[in-house]
Amino acid sequence: MTTQGLDGVVAASTRLSHVDGEAGQLTLAGYAVEDLAPRASFEEVARLFLNTHDLARHRAIPDAALHLLEACAAARTPPIDALRMAAGTLSLEGEADTAKAVAAFPTIIGTYWRLLHNQPPVPVRTDINHAAHFLHQLTGTEPPPETARALETYLNTVCDHGLNASTFAARVIISTHSDLISAIAGAIGALKGPLHGGAPGPALQMVFDIATPENAEPFLRAKLAAGERLMGFGHRIYRVRDPRADVLAAAAERFYNTAGDRKLYALARHVEATALRLLREYKPDRRLDTNVEFYTALLLHGLGLPVELFTPTFAAGRVLGWTAHCLEQLRDGRLIRPQSAYTGPAGLTYAKNLASMPRN
Ligand code: ACO
Repeated sequence: MTTQGLDGVVAASTRLSHVDGEAGQLTLAGYAVEDLAPRASFEEVARLFLNTHDLARHRAIPDAALHLLEACAAARTPPIDALRMAAGTLSLEGEADTAKAVAAFPTIIGTYWRLLHNQPPVPVRTDINHAAHFLHQLTGTEPPPETARALETYLNTVCDHGLNASTFAARVIISTHSDLISAIAGAIGALKGPLHGGAPGPALQMVFDIATPENAEPFLRAKLAAGERLMGFGHRIYRVRDPRADVLAAAAERFYNTAGDRKLYALARHVEATALRLLREYKPDRRLDTNVEFYTALLLHGLGLPVELFTPTFAAGRVLGWTAHCLEQLRDGRLIRPQSAYTGPAGLTYAKNLASMPRN
């Protein structure tokens, strides 16, 4: 008997995070996400997960990363793929510090974004915090404290989430006693798909396409009637509202009240309420609620981040969880090697003429 998509299968033990999908609770290293994420610094969360004390020291990237990013910019490579490739160059540092990828991701992302827009990269600084450094690498200016705080809340919120697809991918890779950077590069590949970390761009686009509150219902109805999925809704584990959506909605509201486009925030709330009502109507047997990506899109857009950087920014938060899971897997785990149920033909006899053989 197979379990499609490993639904409900427990495949690892972890001390890092716990997702209670029925209660809508996420615990990060013992703390409720709504307690920790908006209040702790990213550095404090990194200390909880990795026991690392000096992220700033590891922000620089190898020269080879710069050359690679220049080539990616010339080819107009999507930023998430440029991040995946440049993350691989971190292996050039030999036995890199375990916090290297966590510290260096903002440098890679900011450097690439600037190269893509014909701007020189910004020298690394060590005197500002991780979230501020991320924005500084992108823009070359120090962000206002409330902007850095909002990004920090986002990075904390998404830093880990049980055995999600990208973390599982990282654990599978490291379970063969491969290296940390290989595991992280694989995890980026798993993250980028639209069923995982690739959803916030389309979620925001949907709000833009809807444009006015009156348009929300006909627009969403047409999508559901055509059998399409609404991006930013539904989750494999949560059967109620994703608690991260609440944390990010609160952060977005704080931010949009002071700095952003208040009308866009109000429109997004209306789109969310309409989507939830219609999902109940079209999928009465399913428990589909808002997931983290809906408010990720709104918050990151408010912070001035372009849509193409939403998934790389997610990676910049989640790399903390990937790294911590890899260390945990190496310490406590065993080779991850499940089985498959064979459903192909049996008892065939090999004939010399391949063309005459039956195909699967
Ligand atoms: N809109 C409309 N219908 C949906 C949605 C949605 N967003 N999500 C699930 N459904 C429906 C499916 O069509 C299916 O209906 P059916 O059985 O009548 O065909 C049913 O609900 C169950 O869907 P599954 O694919 O089995 O659910 P699964 O647990 O595999 O999928 C997933 C979870 C991939 C997140 C899904 O809800 C989805 O595609 N959501 C939209 C994309 C998205 O927002 N992704 C980000 C997830 S959060 C994260 O990764 C950080």
